Amino acid sequence: MNVNTPWDMSVNRRILEMEYAVRGPIPQRAAELKKQGRRIIPCNLGNPQALGQQPISFYREVLSLVEHPVRIARERRLKTLFNGGALGGMDADDFPSDYVLDLGERYLAQMETGMGAYSDSSGPQFIREAVARYIDRRDGADDVHLPRSDPGQIFITNGASEAVRYVIDLLIGDESDGVMIPIPQYPLYSAAIKRCGGVQVDYFLDEESGWAMDRTLLESSLAAARERGVAVKAIVVINPGNPTGAVLNEETIGEVIAFAGENGLAIIADEVYQENVYDADAGFVSFARVLGRSDVPLFSVHSTSKGFYGECGHRGGYLEIRNAPRVKDANLSFTDLVLKQASVNICSNTVGQLMMYLLVSPPPENAEPYRRFTIERRKILDDLHDKAVMIRAGFDHMDGMACFGRTGAMYLFPRLDRLPEGKDDFDYCMGLLEETGLVTVNGEGFGQEPGTSHLRIAFLPSREVIEEVLPRWIDFHNAYVN
Ligand SMILES: Cc1ncc(COP(=O)(O)O)c(C=O)c1O
Repeated sequence: MNVNTPWDMSVNRRILEMEYAVRGPIPQRAAELKKQGRRIIPCNLGNPQALGQQPISFYREVLSLVEHPVRIARERRLKTLFNGGALGGMDADDFPSDYVLDLGERYLAQMETGMGAYSDSSGPQFIREAVARYIDRRDGADDVHLPRSDPGQIFITNGASEAVRYVIDLLIGDESDGVMIPIPQYPLYSAAIKRCGGVQVDYFLDEESGWAMDRTLLESSLAAARERGVAVKAIVVINPGNPTGAVLNEETIGEVIAFAGENGLAIIADEVYQENVYDADAGFVSFARVLGRSDVPLFSVHSTSKGFYGECGHRGGYLEIRNAPRVKDANLSFTDLVLKQASVNICSNTVGQLMMYLLVSPPPENAEPYRRFTIERRKILDDLHDKAVMIRAGFDHMDGMACFGRTGAMYLFPRLDRLPEGKDDFDYCMGLLEETGLVTVNGEGFGQEPGTSHLRIAFLPSREVIEEVLPRWIDFHNAYVN
């Protein structure tokens, strides 16, 4: 970085001290190597389209029409001409379906002021209603008699990251306030807590039991924090897990809710990988569903960045609040204060809002885009699973490499049991990058049991790239550890 300026200025130390390894020194070195002409395979981020994943056609058809509405009428005219046989060389697939054209038109009518205007701060009402219907459908609200999701408690955000920041900014009032986070964790959480000057209260996941959550570990972490004078406000749960890929079952979720209820904690449920569950016998169960009529405050977040959508760049997300706490000494609820924060940001970006609307409103079975949508969706999820299986099989040929738990989310987080004396997982990942061009993140970036070493790899490159790089990784690994 250029530091040759005559100006010195003190800065916010909390930001100075914030860490975010997924974009840390290893990716920075990768960028240098890339500039030198080396081929780099960026597996440090869950950024599917950067590794060649194709966007779902249905989403992009609607996005492009809504951003440039005159095309809707033009496409309709062209379709009429085509039906008359006047447009040789084209076939029906070259035109958006009537379903897509109607959807684009309806969407714009509901947006009222169009895509280029600010919207309501919490997101347009009709989108929040669509999100609420999606949540009820997903959780089978009718079947299990759940309270209905309330659009008034939903915020459309610039990705899940913004939603998480809203909640953590609100929870941490002073330096003695703390939030429990899993270790290993996705470093958004440690960074958000650090930025607010709060206390990160770690609870460990049990690696050899498939990264399970353990009530005893939760209790001891909470007790130790309280002993130190920390006012613990909430517990973060990432399900399916990043970086671990672990998928929680209903029983564990119930235990977390009971733990939070007994100890006066709110729950932050990060459910951005809810579609990234691959084992037939381990379906996704939401916190909202298990919460039922319990009064524990729940903040759940979702995103357009993951799943089979992978639309990271469009920055769509939502926050749903259940049982919003009252604000002490003020006649307000938490929701009022999230709205205040959203209002200061004016509104989330309208393309991300549209992406979120599409995520929660897939084409119904009788609609023209349904078939293609379903095929594309299935292919992306099947590919992800197959690629995870390929990489896991590669670990079997690496000495002292142990990978626990099921495959979920977009990552594998194997343990490096045989690093040479004096080397740590950072050295290993840097070496792997220099040797193979593969960018991974060392375990320390997520937190890990002291004395252990890991790395996280996103299983996103194409099969061909994995087939090519895996043997080189195996060779590098065995030479490195032996
Ligand atoms: C667990 C988890 N939560 C949140 C995010 C951020 O998602 P978004 O792109 O919606 O901000 C990520 C991104 O990788 C993630 O892994």
